[in-house]
Amino acid sequence: MQDLFEEQLKALRAASLDRHLSEIGTAQGPEIEIAARRLLNFSSNDYLGLANDSRLREAAIAAVGEFGVGAGASRLISGTQSPHLRLERALAEWKGTAAALCFSSGYAAALGSIPALVTKNDVVLLDKLCHASLIDAAKLSGAILRVFPHNNVRKLKSHLEWVRREYAGRRVLIVTESVFSMDGDRAPLRELVQLKKQFDALLMLDEAHAVGVIGPHGRGLAAEENLSDDVDVQMGTMSKALGASGGYICGSHDLIDWLINRARSFIYSTAPPPAIAAAALAAVNFLSSSEGEERRLLLGERIRLMREVLLSLDVGRSTLGVGRLDAGSKRSTPNAQRSTLNVPTSAIFPLLVGDEQAALDLAAALKTEGFLVPAIRYPTVAKGSARLRVTITSAHQEDQIRSLCQAIRNMTKSK
Ligand SMILES: Cc1ncc(COP(=O)(O)O)c(C=O)c1O
Repeated sequence: MQDLFEEQLKALRAASLDRHLSEIGTAQGPEIEIAARRLLNFSSNDYLGLANDSRLREAAIAAVGEFGVGAGASRLISGTQSPHLRLERALAEWKGTAAALCFSSGYAAALGSIPALVTKNDVVLLDKLCHASLIDAAKLSGAILRVFPHNNVRKLKSHLEWVRREYAGRRVLIVTESVFSMDGDRAPLRELVQLKKQFDALLMLDEAHAVGVIGPHGRGLAAEENLSDDVDVQMGTMSKALGASGGYICGSHDLIDWLINRARSFIYSTAPPPAIAAAALAAVNFLSSSEGEERRLLLGERIRLMREVLLSLDVGRSTLGVGRLDAGSKRSTPNAQRSTLNVPTSAIFPLLVGDEQAALDLAAALKTEGFLVPAIRYPTVAKGSARLRVTITSAHQEDQIRSLCQAIRNMTKSK
């Protein structure tokens, strides 16, 4: 057994695909400490700087005082405490849906809900760049699975025609993300809604990287496009812009009742700690406030600055995902072509490198210069499409963003 792992680990190392943990000695924030070195952190999904916010900390501490640490049992046994229900009511109100259900993570939300929605007689149509949680959940459901090329509405339509021809009467679930986690681009939601209506399919939208960033009060892409009522299953996580932890599904009362009865990751797992629910509730309340909206707008300014500086240094066009925002760029998508440089699309900036070792080398060089930017490799992204994934938060200062861009410029220029 040991030999087997040794061989496999050797193979991973030889392909520059091995991974390691780094110990962070501080709270999350724009600056963190690794091995006693301060680094500017461009790696986290704490887009609004809430992970170490006093509002969330105080809410968690107060909940520990009132409700203790552990939830004691699964939600359906005796684990449903007041903070869980308060959070679900607030999430539903914030997202503008009839009801909401929380899970211990976004991964658990996907894994519990997709197999509850479709079975082996049904069909799942999944965007090629969907997150692992959605892929794993679709596979677990046992449904017939078809993947459509990323954001390719024409191909999705032909899949739907095929399904309706070959599998008439079956339930069809289209699954996609609002903002793609490793590319930072958006789904063409309006076209997807048209198709789901035309072919009588269900639409599930993972808003993990959109909530807190996009839409009024950070409600996400469906809210921004005024399409909330047309998305049957709105998934999200409280582990990114909301600064806490846990996943959620928002939708109709029937959907949520069904998940309470059928989502196995919800039923057969201890409820999340009440303090985490209380912290997430504080984040939802903050986002719903005018101060929260100001914070989101500040994030928009930081994203805009990042794009402008990259383009002014001429980094963006050739190597960065930001290049795809220019109409006519080879990598541009129909959705991206509509974007203009004045509109921040997401907080995720992929610096496409290609070769796995080259991405690791670039990340290491940036670390030497004091920047933490992760190298993202297979299997998170396709082989040969390794990249640096830069994430911008509202907590970054302008000069921090400018110095990162300059460092990237210096390193990529000399290549
Ligand atoms: C698009 C997407 N969906 C779901 C998840 C899972 O969320 P969580 O981290 O809360 O498990 C992630 C997080 O990595 C994600 O990027």
